[in-house]
Amino acid sequence: MMVYLDNAATSFPKPPRVYEQLRSYLEEYGACPGRGSYEMARQAEALIEQVRQLLAELFSVGDPRRVVLTLNATDALNMAIKGALRPGDHVITTVLEHNSVARPLNRLERKGLIRVTRVGVSREGLVDPEEIRGAVTDRTRLVAVVHGSNAIGSLQPIAAIGPIVRQRGALFLVDASQTAGAVPIHVDECCIDLLAFPGHKALLGPPGTGGLYVGPRAKLSPWREGGTGVFSELPLQPDEFPYALEAGSPNTLGLAGLRESLRFILQYGVEWIRTHELSLTERLLDGLRRQERCRVYGPSALEDRVAVVSLTLDGSRPDEVGGFLHRAHGIAVRTGLHCAPGAHRAIGTFPEGTIRISPGYFTTTAEIDRCLAALEEAAQQPSSEKREEERTLERQGVTGAFAGPPCDQGRSR
Ligand code: ALA
Repeated sequence: MMVYLDNAATSFPKPPRVYEQLRSYLEEYGACPGRGSYEMARQAEALIEQVRQLLAELFSVGDPRRVVLTLNATDALNMAIKGALRPGDHVITTVLEHNSVARPLNRLERKGLIRVTRVGVSREGLVDPEEIRGAVTDRTRLVAVVHGSNAIGSLQPIAAIGPIVRQRGALFLVDASQTAGAVPIHVDECCIDLLAFPGHKALLGPPGTGGLYVGPRAKLSPWREGGTGVFSELPLQPDEFPYALEAGSPNTLGLAGLRESLRFILQYGVEWIRTHELSLTERLLDGLRRQERCRVYGPSALEDRVAVVSLTLDGSRPDEVGGFLHRAHGIAVRTGLHCAPGAHRAIGTFPEGTIRISPGYFTTTAEIDRCLAALEEAAQQPSSEKREEERTLERQGVTGAFAGPPCDQGRSR
């Protein structure tokens, strides 16, 4: 049986009721919402409004209309960044950001439209809120911070950063790609103006879903313009939320699944999910700390982490280890830079990156133990350099030089 430990990329599996709902949506009420007066269209419209309400409940948003539905977190982040910024603006961000924040900012900066300050992190991958305070200028319009790093698992103190940003009159954008559904988030308590999140990671919904909370202080220009099903007489995108930022037929199928996963999450509670995921993370970290060749990155305190553990094995390339885990043990992890090169520069693992293990809601302790045992075995494998050396010796006719089976041969169990 495969062991899936790549929940930071997307959660797998989903709660069974999500699969059931996808099927019944297609069979029973798969119409386009807001575009018809018949029952099926009304049902589809109701579904979307229920998703908005559930998301508002999850993040303690007062007005559900301010939860804009998007295709994923990248879509939401582009909407927030490109919608909020004006020429001449200053932006503060961190070196940890995923490319979905870093690339839009880099591009605007290279075009000479904005100035960007990237604050560094501690050795454990944590941002100091005081560094953000020190970087704010009169021109700072946006402070964009990744809540949980997808590369090293550090959880940023957004409750401390938010009030600093608010006090200085800038907008606070939080990338909750790794935390929505896994860590409690209260938008007002953290002074969040823009919260971007995917539906398919810890929210346990289908791919192609996500959202952006847009607080009342944020004035965003439209990201995509088109049909809204209402206010059709207007020549421009309506100002009313959510239509100001939503256009075109939505991914109703995905949202039908997301509605079920949100109900599932609210039933158990994010606090409970966090405790469960942290106990899996703790078990993993304890096991890794006992392995000699293993180097673990990120915070030492468990509460400063999300369920993302990055590591390297001394003398082995991360991609080799990931390949071995998959081929020999059926374990799925992600290796490399995780689309966050700045994070790897910060911890000294650029350009090869790390082996990233990300348990999720459905991960079991037995799966964590299997992964630990497989990593111990991986650490016994000869490195690629050593194998290359041995192959060279073999080619030169020096026999008996090969020390053991290469890690790409044979399933050991
Ligand atoms: N950004 C996702 C990851 O970290 C896909 O793997």
